[in-house]
Amino acid sequence: MTAEVISGKELAGTIRETLKTETASLKEKGIVPGLAVLLVGDDPASASYVRGKEKACIEAGITSEVQRLEASITEETLLNKIEELNRAAHIHGILVQLPLPSHISEDKVIEAVSPKKDVDGFHPVNVGNMVLGRQAFLSCTPYGIIEMLRSKNLSLEGKHAVVVGRSNIVGKPVAQLLLRENATVTCCHSRTRDLKQHTRQADILIAAAGMQEFISADHIKDGAVVIDVGIHRKEDGSLTGDVLFEEASKKASYITPVPGGVGPMTITMLLSNTVESAKRTMSRV
Ligand code: GUN
Repeated sequence: MTAEVISGKELAGTIRETLKTETASLKEKGIVPGLAVLLVGDDPASASYVRGKEKACIEAGITSEVQRLEASITEETLLNKIEELNRAAHIHGILVQLPLPSHISEDKVIEAVSPKKDVDGFHPVNVGNMVLGRQAFLSCTPYGIIEMLRSKNLSLEGKHAVVVGRSNIVGKPVAQLLLRENATVTCCHSRTRDLKQHTRQADILIAAAGMQEFISADHIKDGAVVIDVGIHRKEDGSLTGDVLFEEASKKASYITPVPGGVGPMTITMLLSNTVESAKRTMSRV
């Protein structure tokens, strides 16, 4: 079997076109969706992600306000800036780029963002509402993964989904969203014994452990759907994921590539959450 590639890049393009139409019609009603991004310090990877988010916002008709802050900023000053943005009427989404310098508590920062503007879906209120199946901002990578599966009409009901990785950003929330779609979910992690025994049972395999090319064909059941959340730079400068793409695609029925898979969907769902937040303010007035 040769897997069909699920192009996140293509799907992201389609969704972004729809978002452009939505922002244009919001503009006619006097609303311009606004995203505030706080970038602390000068980590090159974070700076590059933030530039990508800025560019995507502009293209979608979303105003993006990036505050680049010194790594030495105090926790109190940062919390005050978040509070200001919570009150700013033209800002519908607030994103604090992680990781933060070690003297700042990520928990406190995440909780400082109003759940109504938490377009990352990281606030405990949004995480709780997601688990309960209530209205919530869904965290962007897991949301993007579900949209990729939907785009191929892949029914999850009764399927065995195996998630490898249990981070707060991807593993835990994607396991919850798969459960919400009526999949039977197994969540594996670094302490799981005999990982292959689990992954070989997966109808849907989500590789989100952050370990370069560690999922081989041997981990995969014939015909499984494989979603690769990893992104790693190889010594030759090219990008790769958590999955050995070539050999995995010979066994899987569907597979996501790196680059051009989950990555573009993450930013797209951030844009989508920001537009959704702007729409919700309209229904509140
Ligand atoms: N750092 C890496 N991924 C993310 C993300 O999705 N959101 C934020 N805020 N920071 C990140």
